[in-house]
Amino acid sequence: MQNLFWIVGLLLFISACTSNATPLADVDSLPTGDAQRGAELFTQRINGAPSCASCHTLTDVQAAGPGLAGYSQRVATRVEGLSALDYTYNSILHPSSYIVDGYSNLMYQQFRNKLNNQALADIIAYLLTL
Ligand code: HEC
Repeated sequence: MQNLFWIVGLLLFISACTSNATPLADVDSLPTGDAQRGAELFTQRINGAPSCASCHTLTDVQAAGPGLAGYSQRVATRVEGLSALDYTYNSILHPSSYIVDGYSNLMYQQFRNKLNNQALADIIAYLLTL
């Protein structure tokens, strides 16, 4: 019985150590983003996730996802009560919570488990320059 106690404890400990669950910061607590670095990250696979560029062009040409030309202007008023910054944070971490008109819920859902705070802040900073 006591052995079982230790085994369960050990398993819990191991799963706590191996889960990639450092929660990301709230939008207001993110570090300062580096837009140039964000531009690089946009075209790269991060921790096995597909790159943003594989689904988004930087023009108004549609791919799987919306083209991002004029992005920052467009999204400032997209959802009532959400600034462009809030909207972008939410779009990356919780893509299903708002589906852009004319698109399907196809955005990769796991960025919240793949990005760290700095990468997230960098990508957001970049998108807000578009
Ligand atoms: C597998 C394809 C795919 C990948 C990869 C992807 N997206 Fe998307 N994205 C979509 C689709 C489809 C939509 C539109 C549906 C929706 O609103 O979720 C979308 C919507 C968005 C929107 C909202 C656009 C708007 O006009 O309101 C943002 C912002 C966005 N994606 C950013 C990103 C970023 C940043 C990355 C990389 C970290 C990324 N996406 C990776 C498919 C993708």
